[in-house]
Amino acid sequence: MLKRKDLVGLIDATKEEITEILDVASQMKKHLKAGEKQLPYLKGKTATILFYENSTRTRTSFELAAKYLGATVVNISASSSSVAKGETLVDTGKTLDAQLNDFLIMRHPMGGAPYLLAQVAKASVLNAGDGMNEHPTQALLDMLTMREYFGGLEGLKVAIVGDIKHSRVAKSNLFGLNAMGAKVYMYAPKTLIPKGIDKLGATLCESREEALKDADVVMGLRIQLERQQAGNFPSLNEYAEFYGVDGKALKLAKPNAIVMHPGPVNRGVELTGKVIDHERSYIEEQVFSGIAVRMASLKLLNDYRELQK
Ligand code: NCD
Repeated sequence: MLKRKDLVGLIDATKEEITEILDVASQMKKHLKAGEKQLPYLKGKTATILFYENSTRTRTSFELAAKYLGATVVNISASSSSVAKGETLVDTGKTLDAQLNDFLIMRHPMGGAPYLLAQVAKASVLNAGDGMNEHPTQALLDMLTMREYFGGLEGLKVAIVGDIKHSRVAKSNLFGLNAMGAKVYMYAPKTLIPKGIDKLGATLCESREEALKDADVVMGLRIQLERQQAGNFPSLNEYAEFYGVDGKALKLAKPNAIVMHPGPVNRGVELTGKVIDHERSYIEEQVFSGIAVRMASLKLLNDYRELQK
């Protein structure tokens, strides 16, 4: 069973741990498909959602997941919290503990912030994205979507194209997919590849062809202009032409390859509209997987908390 107080990253996650979360998430999907949205696993528990960055799908996904499991859910956004009055993260953690929270679900612009919160808080911390570092539940939902389609993850070729440097999604996927025996190929302008990522197990490609050829999964990543201090490529049009995935590029992948993207998508930049709406585009399925994976993560962390009592 998952023996963790917190879920902050996949950097140290084992194949067994990931498999357990995905197995429970598959069960959660079955419940959801059967219309069962009132499960008892978190009855009497409280989850506070603290988002210090914008989000549509991840915040609502965590909120729905906690509510479907019966938890009481509170939402805080940075602009309305005492952080705007100068409170430190450590003091915020202590305050939320004093209110008897069981789960703190946090998105923060600084890499490592959830680790700090997890150290000081008695509540279990779930990282919903920390800066350019990790986004573990996103990678788990990506892996669930792939596992359902292919029946397993071992040996899959996953091509990640887009803004890898600023992407916490790419890093969590790299750690998770490596642990599960899949192979991760990355392609982007050199200015958007973080130094040393090949030493963490990624295969860096010199061309779009090399990355996409015979891929099982083509994963696009958003160009994160908000995190770029200087121009990393000449223009979005040029980026789309040389690095984006269109119908022709997709044909390089295996005939049954699927298209994925964590969203939000810049239509026509990292993927063309045709590719986003392709019959083998699993972008909406990823969103559905997201609720199931977050339900599974909350349930398993809660099971561990109960054992510690
Ligand atoms: C991503 C994120 O915020 O890390 N989106 C998401 O959570 N689905 C990727 C992005 O912002 O481009």
